[in-house]
Amino acid sequence: MGEVDPAFIQALEHQPKIIITEAEGIPLIDLSPLISCNTEAEDSSLVAEIGDACKNWGFFQVINHGVPLKCREKIESAARKFFGLSNEEKKKVSRNEVNPLGYYDTEHTKNVRDWKEVFDLTVKKPTIIPSSHQSDDKELNQLMNQWPEDLPELKEACEEYAEEMAKLAFKLLEFIALSLGLPKTRLSGIFKDHDSFLRLNHYPPCPAPHLVLGVGRHKDPNALTILGQDEVGGLEVKRKADGEWIPVKPTPNAYIINVGDLIQVWSNDEYVSVEHRVMVNSEKERLSIPFFLNPPNSTWVEPLEELINKQNPAKYKPYNWGEFLAKRARSNFEKLDVENIQISHFRI
Ligand code: OGA
Ligand code: NI
Repeated sequence: MGEVDPAFIQALEHQPKIIITEAEGIPLIDLSPLISCNTEAEDSSLVAEIGDACKNWGFFQVINHGVPLKCREKIESAARKFFGLSNEEKKKVSRNEVNPLGYYDTEHTKNVRDWKEVFDLTVKKPTIIPSSHQSDDKELNQLMNQWPEDLPELKEACEEYAEEMAKLAFKLLEFIALSLGLPKTRLSGIFKDHDSFLRLNHYPPCPAPHLVLGVGRHKDPNALTILGQDEVGGLEVKRKADGEWIPVKPTPNAYIINVGDLIQVWSNDEYVSVEHRVMVNSEKERLSIPFFLNPPNSTWVEPLEELINKQNPAKYKPYNWGEFLAKRARSNFEKLDVENIQISHFRI
């Protein structure tokens, strides 16, 4: 254990099991009807498939999704070059207390350090968020993307990729809305001016993979996440049925989709945001690229009125997305002694 800083060590009950069980994995959904001229019958079977996956797993993989392979190869190659730069070069685009965007290698999840380095950017430029989490504080903070000077291809690759991700996210939102019995554009309509984030995750090899995690157990606070992972694997999903940690098998050119906390609140717990974590590897490094679909920062989030009634009353009080993010950004930056803000804090 000598080689690993104690800040990374997980409590015993959260240390990962290295023996991988051959278990039934998350559903694999073929989206080809979504990108071709589809018939109504094909559409409704896809709606049912996506709805079942959201309900039973909160996670699924998609293939034939319409995102060009070239676009993915380009961002993966640029990301590998970026993480291969010297520490000194990477630190030039470090995030800081004012601007949470850029490079960092000190993120904590549930107050334990993650074995990873990260590069964050926003899709909309610039993005405005409240500068504090106090509702009465009207000061705003402008988030600026930071780009390494000597790697212009990174900016171009990220911008093109983010556009493809947004297109796919909008299509998925339509199918998720239909699966909840809502009009097709009921959810996507909220995102016209979305404040989404793109993240590059690099997990270096680790001498003690049984003690640490690349990302500790967590739920994504946003609406929907679209994750591209390389062939190494390591992502685990907590199966709803029995609470077991199930590995997500890498599938070439697939994307992993998961429902985040916002869909949990809008759907009034019909679809819940599921815990997941990342194991690291003693030999191989791993790259993953999540796109976090976020609504505009001014959005107030609460269960959709179409989905609540006397028998099924709202389970959450309204909360402001931008304020929520501001609070999160603060606690991700420093190790705090209290729990990070969660949607459970708004539960009625
Ligand atoms: C995340 C996350 C999973 C992965 O960044 O929120 O869950 O496989 N990443 O990198
Ligand atoms: Ni996540």
